[in-house]
Amino acid sequence: MLDKYKIYSFPDFKKARIKINAPFSRRNYQKGEDDLSLLKGKKVYIRTYGCQANIRDEEIMLGILKEFGMKETSKKEEADLVILNTCAVRENAEEKVYGEIGSLKPIKKLHPQMKIALCGCMALEPPIVEKILKTYPHIDFMFGTHDIAKLPIFLKRAFIDDEKFVDILSSSGEVVENLPSTRKEKFKAFVNIMYGCDKFCSYCIVPSTRGRERSRALRDVLKECEQLVKDGYLDITLLGQNVNAYGKDLKDGTNFALLLEEVAKTGVKRLRFITSHPFDFDDALIEVIAKYDNIMKYIHLPVQSGSSKVLKAMNRRYDREGYLSLVRKIKEKIPHVALSSDIIVGFPGESEEDFLDTLSLVEEVEYASLFTFIYSPRPFTPATIMQNQISDEIKHERFNRLSKTSEKIIERLSTAMVGKTYDVLIEEVSKKDPRFVSGYTEEFKLVHVEGDASLIGKIIKVKIIASHTYSLIGERVDG
Ligand code: SAH
Ligand code: SF4
Ligand code: F3S
Repeated sequence: MLDKYKIYSFPDFKKARIKINAPFSRRNYQKGEDDLSLLKGKKVYIRTYGCQANIRDEEIMLGILKEFGMKETSKKEEADLVILNTCAVRENAEEKVYGEIGSLKPIKKLHPQMKIALCGCMALEPPIVEKILKTYPHIDFMFGTHDIAKLPIFLKRAFIDDEKFVDILSSSGEVVENLPSTRKEKFKAFVNIMYGCDKFCSYCIVPSTRGRERSRALRDVLKECEQLVKDGYLDITLLGQNVNAYGKDLKDGTNFALLLEEVAKTGVKRLRFITSHPFDFDDALIEVIAKYDNIMKYIHLPVQSGSSKVLKAMNRRYDREGYLSLVRKIKEKIPHVALSSDIIVGFPGESEEDFLDTLSLVEEVEYASLFTFIYSPRPFTPATIMQNQISDEIKHERFNRLSKTSEKIIERLSTAMVGKTYDVLIEEVSKKDPRFVSGYTEEFKLVHVEGDASLIGKIIKVKIIASHTYSLIGERVDG
């Protein structure tokens, strides 16, 4: 099967991790000269896995496809083009994709004209690309996270030249602007402020799949946010793997605190950002968050472990004390701040004592929400070959204990919200009960309140009357 594919470029883990010197080149997106009018009216089904970076990539791909007259469908059976936008962060993320690839085989048999593409972070893993070439010949083409702006070229190759191919760049030294995009939501928007990650945590594949940290120019981010505000968006989330490193590569003094302040001044009702790495979280940033009412007092600040020994092995660049003193400073300067975190259990060498350190840190910080992950060895990352890998049994047992601890804290914090009044941005009619609508408080707490679809897109005052740990029930207090 191998010879049926044309290989334009093949991923390479070594290349993906090489440092590229800033400043990075910038260019505007080009639609290209090719006549792609045969795409008009064709249907695309995109399935996205993973984080907000991938969700935003999906919006950009949809934007490009719609420029050629393609329409989105939620039924893969009727699609002319299927795109699997994949995630590689843990093994179970990849298993889901293999399940989807398998389910597409009989569909493609019935609809042989259908083209199937695989992109996203899994495409950056050479062993995976090889496996797909050998085992899943119904995949027509593969491209990576750095290649999205080349979609018009890929469409020509697939639909006009009837080519099967692999075109996956392992690194990128550029930032592409003026990308079309079709946003998935009407009131909430994600805005990329930077791409890639230079932190190289020892367990993480992301620096190999997303490349080096590259910041968008401040004026470009600002322009996009100003337009979103004009278009009626109420909630903007600035995106980056490590937003606090924003601007470092621009080498002109621009930094994240400065950018955040400029975006806050656009007057957007709710401004958020993910993800913050504790290492680069400075006092100037804390001050800006405290100063602007429209910057949400919710900070996702992943700790990964509560043990300094494990944090060192993870290459996180801070220790337990450093993290806790940052948290104390944030809580002091920003009263009522809600913190959330990611934690990995079962990292190689994590002892029971290390794990207890994690539990006690979680108790001390009192996270309003917590994402717990079981350590998953990733190819070509240093942790994969570390001694003392932890058994699945212990990993699961620690996962359950941590989840219980976190749930108790969240229950406590949620109960304390009862009787108080919060601003809630209503997003949808409740899925469970159509008499209710649902939305989020500034601190990202899900609230259900009696009301109808006319409230969607409005920020209303809600008094909390009951708590169900992960969601709250409230009643309107502003008429
Ligand atoms: N840049 C962000 C998010 C990275 S991926 C950050 O640094 O926080 C999201 C989360 O997945 C990470 O925070 C980490 O908790 C988890 N993760 C990453 N690699 C993992 C692995 N190999 N096994 C288990 N969890 C992992
Ligand atoms: Fe991965 Fe660490 Fe970068 Fe986050 S900061 S994406 S965990 S390498
Ligand atoms: Fe997954 Fe890639 Fe995001 S590995 S978590 S989709 S950066």
